[in-house]
Amino acid sequence: MQHFSMAVIPGDGIGPEVTNEALKMIKMVEELHGGIKFYSEHFEWGCDYYLKSGRMMPENGLEILKDFDVLLFGAVGAKTVPDYISVWELILPIRQKFQQYVNLRPIKLLRGLESPLRYKNHEDLDFVVIRENTEGEYFNSGGRVHEGTPYELAMQNSVFTRFGTERILNYAFTLAEKRKKNLAVATKSNAINFTMPFWDELVKEISGNYPGVQTRLYHIDALAAYFVSRPEEFDVVVGSNLFGDILTDLGAAIVGGLGISPSGNINPERAYPSMFEPIHGSAPDIAGKGIANPIASIWSVGLMMDHLGHNHIGKLIVDSIEAVLVDGKIRTPDLGGTATTVEMGEAIISKMAQLAVGHHL
Ligand code: IPM
Ligand code: MG
Repeated sequence: MQHFSMAVIPGDGIGPEVTNEALKMIKMVEELHGGIKFYSEHFEWGCDYYLKSGRMMPENGLEILKDFDVLLFGAVGAKTVPDYISVWELILPIRQKFQQYVNLRPIKLLRGLESPLRYKNHEDLDFVVIRENTEGEYFNSGGRVHEGTPYELAMQNSVFTRFGTERILNYAFTLAEKRKKNLAVATKSNAINFTMPFWDELVKEISGNYPGVQTRLYHIDALAAYFVSRPEEFDVVVGSNLFGDILTDLGAAIVGGLGISPSGNINPERAYPSMFEPIHGSAPDIAGKGIANPIASIWSVGLMMDHLGHNHIGKLIVDSIEAVLVDGKIRTPDLGGTATTVEMGEAIISKMAQLAVGHHL
């Protein structure tokens, strides 16, 4: 029997609703496999917790989480707490302190869905964005002075270290080597004239170690346009923290929307837990209505399985989601249907039970 420990942080807004369905998927995985067991513990941290305690998580929150194998995260953010507080006291410290430097975000048009890009199909839309997740534009360095005066000033520093840049580039090159050997690199070295030329130089240096990989540098503005006009050119795309953030919302939009797209915040060395979460946020406008799409959260469990070395389970989860979409009967409102979160989740989970027959998990 293989045991994994998992901390569950459903968080705010629709986070708890979609996380519930992800947890049902984990139960189904245990049942179908028979040899995997998750020991899970739930933490009700987030904006409600903040209103009661003045903190998004306890002072020793990271200490509590650090020995788990994996974290399952829902969403963060509510109107009751300023966003820069809620993210800087919960999700960003987890990503940064646990060295989850790879934010892996598949951009894949699932069967059964159509892209809003006319003429683009499943073969055209199947790539992965590797986003640097610990530094860059999210470095938490800057300040404000002379507040409220005409001399007021705000400054935010972007920080790129050789260590941080090399490790994300090496991860992206290695992944490209395993895929179609094609790496697109986001940059902006024409206007951002210190950090981005540094980033480009490291790309050039490192590319020598991966002679089989074709590497292309794109300025981020052009790259965003190419996501729309020629997405079929991409296989692995690597970018800094903010560039990757923006590109992946765009990426989600071209493959069916934010309700679908999952992500893994990965510490490849496994010195700390990795965290799996939907790309979408807390969606306060639909929170509590039971209509949020649970696919992104369930697919995030698929990425968790890949990370834990059970790629065939990860694949079966994606196959099950696709099969339900191809059936087309059960869809949440974001996909043009009327199904609830629970109906959508349960359809995927029972499909998985059907598809698993005769499979060796
Ligand atoms: C994401 C989100 C977060 C980010 C927010 C909630 C801080 O947009 O995971 O993409 O910017 O990283
Ligand atoms: Mg984002």
